[in-house]
Amino acid sequence: MKPKKFALVLACLAALVFPGRAFAQTDPGVRPGAINGQPTATATSPLPLASVAGNNPTGSLEFFQNGLARFQEIEVVSGGANNGLGPRFNFNQCSGCHAQPAVGGTSPASNPEFQVIANGIASGSANTMPSFLTANGPTREVRFPFFFNSNGNPNTNAPNGGVEDLFVVTGRPDAGSCSLPQPSFSVAQSTNNIIFRIPTPVFGAGLLENIDDSTLLANQAAQARNNLGISGAFNHNGNDGTISRFGWKAQNKSLLLFAAEAYNVEMGITNEIFGQDRPLPGEDQMGSGLPASCLNLSKTGYPEDATNFTVATNSDPAAQNAQVPSDIVLFAEFMRLLAPPTPSTTTPGGAASISRGQALFNAVGCATCHTPTLSSTQPSNVTSSLGSAPVNAFSDIEIHHMGTGLADNVSQGGAGGDQFRTAPLWGLGQRIFLLHDGRTTNLLHAIQAHQSNGSEASQVEENFDSLSTSQQQDLLNFLRSL
Ligand code: HEC
Ligand code: HEC
Repeated sequence: MKPKKFALVLACLAALVFPGRAFAQTDPGVRPGAINGQPTATATSPLPLASVAGNNPTGSLEFFQNGLARFQEIEVVSGGANNGLGPRFNFNQCSGCHAQPAVGGTSPASNPEFQVIANGIASGSANTMPSFLTANGPTREVRFPFFFNSNGNPNTNAPNGGVEDLFVVTGRPDAGSCSLPQPSFSVAQSTNNIIFRIPTPVFGAGLLENIDDSTLLANQAAQARNNLGISGAFNHNGNDGTISRFGWKAQNKSLLLFAAEAYNVEMGITNEIFGQDRPLPGEDQMGSGLPASCLNLSKTGYPEDATNFTVATNSDPAAQNAQVPSDIVLFAEFMRLLAPPTPSTTTPGGAASISRGQALFNAVGCATCHTPTLSSTQPSNVTSSLGSAPVNAFSDIEIHHMGTGLADNVSQGGAGGDQFRTAPLWGLGQRIFLLHDGRTTNLLHAIQAHQSNGSEASQVEENFDSLSTSQQQDLLNFLRSL
């Protein structure tokens, strides 16, 4: 047989043995079209829950809209309409980081931390751009897992794990004489003592907040009967001991608490829950705190964000009421009243492929952690859409050991270095960056990362690997339909 013919025979044989291999499975990518599955939503006007869209109870729509506006406000240090930024911060606007595919979401394609800081708009000239922030990479928050020794090496006996803010207000005209340096990101990088987190989206967050612990525990008990090596746990809130649920490690209890923490940690704005300007973990726990020249930069006193006792009169009483609460209350209300994403039944790949993909998602064991529906929420004293509702979040809200490949060596509450909350997959179809550090934009890579030494998801990932190419494609189409 001549070599050419032999090659041809081999190719035909291969086609028989591996049907479909010619069309290897690919991530269909970010689903185009309606934002979050909602045809009338826009990037700056995401939709509220159905009952709130009907303004039930009266005034709820005003609170949602006012919260949406505050979520997009740009903060300055002093002398403007929205003061209190800094002395350290990661960004100057909630919606900068929570932007994709609409306000409330996650990292957009063009990294605002890079764009705004590179152009010197939010920061003074004192900031240098850390090398891990790039124009088209994810927005990032940084932690150092360990404190440093005096010789500049990480001390593995001294766990740190707190957020190291990226930027300082030093050099801004509205920042007075405060002159703090940025943390040494290059040292942290060269000693491999740095980890990243990207924003989690908040669509449907009010539903997650309103699930009773008993519903979560019943789901965990049902899941315990698996033979896939999966045994999740819950993270708990240190104050009242109930199950906590927000953040990559389910470290945070409620939307109000998260809003208050984000306001202080991401933007440096003190508030009614966190009343002191925040030093870096090293400056506080192992040092002397912030210098006096960097305190009360807003010149308004503390907390920088407070209840508004006096507001402008408005002929619409609901609009007037919505001006009274502090920003953190309105941030929380906006997120609580934000509608969950609506999946597509046809895009990508068509209805038949999506429904085959959903069946495979259940069959291989993804659904054991990514519980498609938690049913149902507690009665709600906020608005009817939040009560007795199914939560189609594709998460059990449990934390699972995800192995050495995903571990970030940061402990938060009861979650250890390799434990993460099962990432809710609702809205996944329009997410760009994936996994807690945004290491990939490719669903296949995200799935492969589930397998590593010590991961509870390894068996399920192997089950996925043994699907045929067209079955894997169905599963990917299903994921991008969410
Ligand atoms: C610099 C970018 C950045 C800014 C600005 C920012 N966030 Fe976030 N947000 C994050 C990151 C990163 C996480 C994930 C944190 C983690 O779990 O480690 C997050 C998570 C959250 C969550 C948790 C959602 C869930 O289900 O896990 C809420 C709620 C939230 N942010 C609210 C806010 C609010 C309110 C503001 C404005 C006050 C804000 N964020 C500003 C980056 C940002
Ligand atoms: C043992 C529980 C578990 C199983 C089983 C599991 N996952 Fe996950 N999944 C997680 C956790 C935890 C994360 C977050 C990990 C991280 O970011 O480090 C995650 C993250 C993801 C992400 C990224 C989402 C985001 O917001 O960035 C995708 C996509 C995903 N899983 C899909 C799947 C698919 C498909 C399967 C089945 C083949 C599967 N998972 C099986 C627990 C699980």
